[in-house]
Amino acid sequence: MLFVFILQGMMHAVPASDARLLVLYYTYSGVTETLAQAIADNCGGTLLEVVDHGNYPRPESSTTYNYANNERSQIDAGVWPEIKTKVDSFDQWDAVIICTPLWNGKMANPMLTFLHNHASKLAGKQVALAVTSWSSGIANVVNDAHNQLPGSTFVGDALHISYNDRLKIPTMSSQWVGTLDFEVEAVDRPMMLVVENNKTFTATLADNATAEAFKALLPLTLDMTELNGNEKYNYLSTSLPKNAVNPGTIHAGDIMLYGSSCVVLFYETFATSYTYTRIGAVDDPTELAQALGSGNVTVRFMIEGKPGDINGDNEVNVSDVNLLINYILLDTGGSPAPGYADFNQDGEVNIADVNALINYILN
Ligand SMILES: Cc1cc2nc3c(=O)[nH]c(=O)nc-3n(C[C@H](O)[C@H](O)[C@H](O)COP(=O)(O)O)c2cc1C
Repeated sequence: MLFVFILQGMMHAVPASDARLLVLYYTYSGVTETLAQAIADNCGGTLLEVVDHGNYPRPESSTTYNYANNERSQIDAGVWPEIKTKVDSFDQWDAVIICTPLWNGKMANPMLTFLHNHASKLAGKQVALAVTSWSSGIANVVNDAHNQLPGSTFVGDALHISYNDRLKIPTMSSQWVGTLDFEVEAVDRPMMLVVENNKTFTATLADNATAEAFKALLPLTLDMTELNGNEKYNYLSTSLPKNAVNPGTIHAGDIMLYGSSCVVLFYETFATSYTYTRIGAVDDPTELAQALGSGNVTVRFMIEGKPGDINGDNEVNVSDVNLLINYILLDTGGSPAPGYADFNQDGEVNIADVNALINYILN
């Protein structure tokens, strides 16, 4: 069973690894691709290559430089080259990391063109810049980026990888990513309550100190005792703040604090003369009574975390793998909600999710 409650959406700064990042790159000879991959590995970002028109002379020579130089003159005159990459929306990303080579002292034409073509869609977005060159300084590339993206917010200092730095890409990119903080909107994270039969429900927490204190205890697995054919309860080992009142009517789905430590989950509606402090309520209790059953039941309360955070402890590690395997093979109590365990988002919860999760953790 699964309760869900909502955290208010507010902006707050997080390290790059906690942001949803698109790592955008252009490469002519592969160096910037290597850098982009290292950055994506470090921040868990998604790679997207900007593909050029395919006409740049190869192998790299003065002919290439001249071609690119002439094309840049055209660009400066307002004639933009073709590129093959188009992005409809950046809505799913908190920020975009732009990785580009330097050409003739400036930003490589294909990336410059991509930014030009997508400036309005990137307006309001946070961006960070990483540049590779043979030896030239990157000040003009930084200027190009600012000129093309006047509406974007640049985060951190641009990273520069010169020829001499190439073997240091893993360490330099890792250090650089570590300096980046992105503002992200706090995702509305449901609080999950998983019951031993895996039936899931959503619930909304009350806006009070009791609910806040309860939330701070999560994740929490409670062995709940049946009482009176209308409630399940558990005495916590700790006390929560209370402000008890008589609610008159108890509604199926109410999650209440009785006294200062007894969590009660009601599954019937009835009049009461007792006093309680509200913790929250199940949003749709229609199937609650059936799911809880007639006896004692184990219920796991947890807040939905990031993808892969199966156990809701806000970390993605081997404990999540164990819980996922248990869910799939053993169908044990305290299992994650199926929708949440579907790590690879293919609509099924199976061993492929375990593989995907292990790969995610190892990479
Ligand atoms: C057309 C062109 C122009 C270049 N101009 C410069 C330059 O002015 N200064 C410099 O240090 N490197 C220059 N380079 C070298 C690249 O910036 C450098 O090799 C970069 O790391 C290549 O990245 P890539 O392998 O991702 O294409 C140029 C490369 C090309 C292809």
